[in-house]
Amino acid sequence: MKGVVLAGGSGSRLYPLTKITNKHLLPIYDKPMIYYPIQTLVDAGIDDILIVTGGKNAGDFLRLLANGKEFGLSHLNFTYQEGEGGIADALALAEHFADGGKFCVILGDNIVERNIRGAADEFRAQDRGARILLKQVPDAERFGVAEIRGDRIIGIEEKPARPKSNYAVTGIYMYDATVFEKIRTLVPSARNELEITDVNNAYIREGSMTFSNLEGWWTDAGTFDSLLRATNLVAKTRHSDAAMEFPEAPAPAR
Ligand code: DAU
Repeated sequence: MKGVVLAGGSGSRLYPLTKITNKHLLPIYDKPMIYYPIQTLVDAGIDDILIVTGGKNAGDFLRLLANGKEFGLSHLNFTYQEGEGGIADALALAEHFADGGKFCVILGDNIVERNIRGAADEFRAQDRGARILLKQVPDAERFGVAEIRGDRIIGIEEKPARPKSNYAVTGIYMYDATVFEKIRTLVPSARNELEITDVNNAYIREGSMTFSNLEGWWTDAGTFDSLLRATNLVAKTRHSDAAMEFPEAPAPAR
């Protein structure tokens, strides 16, 4: 299965941090933001990856990532989104890369603690449709929110004022190649974007949407508060991993 990282958009909610650079090049603790979604795909066993970016700093991604050697990759693919037409607009640019196959998409500002390999393997075994990853959150109104009945998602609302559940739709989506036909039917939303939630609702309507619950912590990093939260979560995880690796020497016996 191939992978796509969406790293376009204007990052307007992080202005002026994004005045002269792309949001996904900003630091999260000790690495640029884009490192995390790439690593998430690599850890899921995905080694053919497309980066979709845009804006004035697109060349910096190539300089930063080159051919992906730091991730153990032998090559990376890049494409350019003109304007900020939304997540589904950026995804449309992956059609040639997908080449009729299934793939996993991750938003460039989504940072996760754990491996998503289990969900990726379930989608590898799923013959068609889509799979999304859900996470229970206290602030669901900031996200796409899934309404669940039994073991099925019956609808998703984008940033509802009154969420029907506390299950946020994370920015990790797995699709078959029919996603591109679905994107072609979309019309821009009130914020003038092609919405990924509309794509997901199209799969729900045709009865081919499945989901997994995301394990471990998850955060986006597109606002000042979530950027800080992402850094703090990564730092905390890094420190606790180090403590497990190098436990303090036992106190000498008296
Ligand atoms: O983080 C998960 C949430 O991401 C989902 O719960 C929402 O359903 C989904 O709409 C999205 O919400 P946001 O409003 O937070 O998305 P945002 O506009 O911040 O874009 C997220 C990433 O998508 C961004 O880091 C890069 C990529 N993107 C976005 C736009 C608008 C593009 O590549 N091109 C774009 O034009």
